[in-house]
This record gives sequence, structure tokens and C-alpha cells, in this order.
Amino acid sequence: MQSTISITELANDVDEGLSSDPKYLNSKYFYDAIGSAIFQKIMHMPEYYLTDCELEIFNQQKKSIFQHLNLNDQAFDVVELGAGDGLKTKILLEYFLDQNPAIKYIPIDISDEAVINLEKDLRRELPNLNVEGKIGDYFGMMEALNEIDTSPKVIMFLGSNIGNFNHQKSIDFLSHLGEVMNANDNLILGFDLKKDPDIIMNAYNDPHGYTASFNLNLLRRINEELDGTFELLKYEHFEVYDPQTGTAKSYLISKTEQSVKIGALEKIIHFKKWEPVFMEMSQKYDEEMIQNLADEAGFEIIKNFTDDRQYFINSIWKPKQIG
Ligand code: AVJ
Repeated sequence: MQSTISITELANDVDEGLSSDPKYLNSKYFYDAIGSAIFQKIMHMPEYYLTDCELEIFNQQKKSIFQHLNLNDQAFDVVELGAGDGLKTKILLEYFLDQNPAIKYIPIDISDEAVINLEKDLRRELPNLNVEGKIGDYFGMMEALNEIDTSPKVIMFLGSNIGNFNHQKSIDFLSHLGEVMNANDNLILGFDLKKDPDIIMNAYNDPHGYTASFNLNLLRRINEELDGTFELLKYEHFEVYDPQTGTAKSYLISKTEQSVKIGALEKIIHFKKWEPVFMEMSQKYDEEMIQNLADEAGFEIIKNFTDDRQYFINSIWKPKQIG
């Protein structure tokens, strides 16, 4: 395993985001060891319905999912971007392994702890599965896809991870993925659907305060890794959901006027009273939006799978053949 996230990358992005007006931070930095552990708590709380929906879809429709990949008895690689703890993927992996013992699983995550734990966990739970974890962010890792081997790839991007990208970034990411994919490769995506706004707000403004700690942890990380002086109690988490666009946004808001020193940047950042820092977007979709993304990025939707409540869609895509 090789790490690709450097302290300079974090420093540059934090510098850019906190020097901007309005201020922002990139949610990909949420996932240090502590952040990944808090995200696990989020996934296990009842309010965060996304995990349950995807588990339900995989448990109940794994057979149909496998059939729609159209791989029959070919050996193939499962490449998962942002694998985390692999909780949901394990259901598919177990089933795929029964169909074909030669499959290989390549989980990629930005958190080295997540990848190490997942490898350890899979050696115990699915000892026959060939696993080769990689550490890195999605964009950097895509180039490496075809260097793995020549087997067909099933690329997974689950949990509505794509919702962290705005429209343009989603198109860039998916188009780029389409370019490195071969004709018999498949993409399995997870999309959280538009639904009762109260249900969405409860998932992202949870009564346990996990989402608040998840956001505040990035300030703690900046203190630790970039020699910052954030006082976490002086910020509050605030969530908004716009039912018209389907965009949920997370902010940390400075409760007082204050200055924060970031040693590694040799900078002092000033916050006005009630000034927000935009932390994360979590886009919600409908079928039309999913179809538009596929069209714009040059993919064909093979099949959409949904849960009983129709809260979530897992979608199988193939690159559109040109000419
Ligand atoms: C891992 C990006 C899918 O946006 O729902 C959970 C992260 N943020 N609660 C999401 C998250 C706040 C999550 N994703």
C-alpha cells in the first residue's frame, strides 16, 4: 500500500479555502482516523437511512445485480472508490465470490486506517477473497485502473459519495472514469434520492451530534497537522436542505469574532461573528437527474435498483460505445 495524500496538499487546500470569501473546506479531509471512526457512527445511527437502504438493495437484489453485470463466468476485478469499512460491499463480494472464486477486490480509500482495517477484516471474513487495498483519492487513483491487470472491472462508487461533488465536478469525474473504462467494464453508483425534507434534515442534523463532531473534527485535524489554534467550542454546525435543488449543505459557523493562527501556513485567519465555513454538500437526486448525469458523462444506464421505500438507487452504468 502506498499513501498519496501529503501534508502539503492539505495545507494548500486549507490555505485556499480559508483565504476565500466565502470560506470553505474540502470534505475529503474529514476522513482521518478519528473522522473515519465518527463516520462509522453516523452510518450506524438509525437517522442515517442511506446505509440501510443500500444494504437492503444489495441483500435483496444481489442476484439480479450480478446478472446485469453480464460477466457470466469471467474473472473480474471489483474496484471500490472510497471503500471505507466495506460494510455494504461485503454483501456483494460474498455473492460474487460464490459465482467466481477468481475475483479480486481493490478497495481504494483516502484513509490509510480504513484500508488497513478493511484488509484485516476481509482476511477473516472472506479468507478466499483476493484483496489488494490502495490509499489515495479518487481522481489520482483512476489513472492506475488499467495498470492492475486486464480483467474486466466493476467499479463501485457507493453510499451516494458522488453527492459530495457539485454538478460540474460530477460530470468531470464520471467522464474521466468513462475514458479509462473498457467496453465490458461496469460502474455501480449509489444515489440518495429526494424525499421528505424532514427525513434528510434528521440524517444530517442528527440528535446525537455525530454530524457536528464529524465537521468539527476537521478543525481539530487542522490544529493537529497544520499547527492551528481553532477552539472547537466557538463554532456550531448548521445544516440546510433545499428541496428545490436537492442539495444539503453543511456549515460550521463562528459564534464569535475571532482569529485563528495556522502555524504551517504562517497565517492568521479572521472570522466575523456568525461567519460560516462551507464544509460539505450532499446532493439528493431523482431519476431524471441520474439519467442526465449518465447522458452528459457518456454512459448508458443498464439498470436502476431501488429499496422498498424508494429512498435510494443503485445504478449500473456502462460507457456508451461511440460509432
Ligand atoms: C459519505 C459523502 C456519502 O454526504 O451523506 C454523512 C458523508 N456527511 N453525514 C454523505 C456524510 C454527513 C456522506 N457521504
